Amino acid sequence: MPANYKILQEKDYAESFGPTHAFALDILVGLSDKPKRIPSKYLYDDNGSKLFSEITFVPEYYLTDCEIDILSNQADKIIDTVKDEPFNLIELGAGFGRKTKILLEKFSEANLDFQYVPIDISESAMIGLRDSMNESFPDIEVNGLVSDYFVGMKWFNERFTERNLVTFLGSSIGNFTYAGARFFLRNVWTCLNRDDLFLIGFDLKKDIELLLSAYNDPKGITSRFNLNVLDRINKELGGQFDKSRFRHFGTYDVFSGAMESYLVSLESQEVPINQIGRSFHFDEWEPIHTEYSYKYLLSDIRELASDTGFSEVTNLFDSKKYFCDAIWRVNKS
Ligand code: AVI
Repeated sequence: MPANYKILQEKDYAESFGPTHAFALDILVGLSDKPKRIPSKYLYDDNGSKLFSEITFVPEYYLTDCEIDILSNQADKIIDTVKDEPFNLIELGAGFGRKTKILLEKFSEANLDFQYVPIDISESAMIGLRDSMNESFPDIEVNGLVSDYFVGMKWFNERFTERNLVTFLGSSIGNFTYAGARFFLRNVWTCLNRDDLFLIGFDLKKDIELLLSAYNDPKGITSRFNLNVLDRINKELGGQFDKSRFRHFGTYDVFSGAMESYLVSLESQEVPINQIGRSFHFDEWEPIHTEYSYKYLLSDIRELASDTGFSEVTNLFDSKKYFCDAIWRVNKS
């Protein structure tokens, strides 16, 4: 028999290692680590996304209102950067589209020539977004992509020639470590063309009391959002977590500049997770790290732009100077 080989394709990988397998592996690794940790991306199942959307209406969670203030009152400065030629408005992770709608309204009032390209990994999020965009903006061309951000941007960029304005709103960059943020931004840079624009939200360093109450809101919605990941493990991996035996704890690390969320075990306990085939021991007061939300200085933002191949166009601040939407241009020869 002649020697031969076969190249396995992405669908073969998907068949062997579905999303539940990746989730189980991340939980096994994270809960075996010291300190224990759960990657923050697992906070966002359907229920987690709904709870996060509720958080954005909580008065103590100032971030969303501040960004709405910027987009409502300073859209003309964004419009100035794109008004001279047709462009693609590419949005990374639109969520429920509340802030995007402000931008779309301002862009259509200014008669800009653009198509809107939301990119999201979740098809159900995309269906919701498509329907609500069709209802609110029947005249805007919407061509969403259900994909990974980078695959989506590359795919799109190979097929359309207009200039791109990519948006990454809402301080999502804060959920990456500094190294992770650099990796993410350099990947965005790789997918774009010279002179494309990037509009990115950063939550700024501020009074620590304001930070603490934003991430420990009095109605306990942030707590429900954080604890929901235990329900998700129960549902998807056959876990036996009892949420009443854990509490949410949000704290600020002044050295790293990160708000950090934890789930703290209120007693010594063993928790079986059937699909992983073992139990995990928690000591009384032992924490599980679930999220970083990094806060930035303007000097950090500038350094991040120049380290990853962008140059600053402008920085837009809300009236309280709590939040910054930075506009960067892609430097490339
Ligand atoms: C999605 N992300 C930007 C939010 C944040 O502020 O880090 C998630 C969040 N976590 C607790 N409250 C909100």
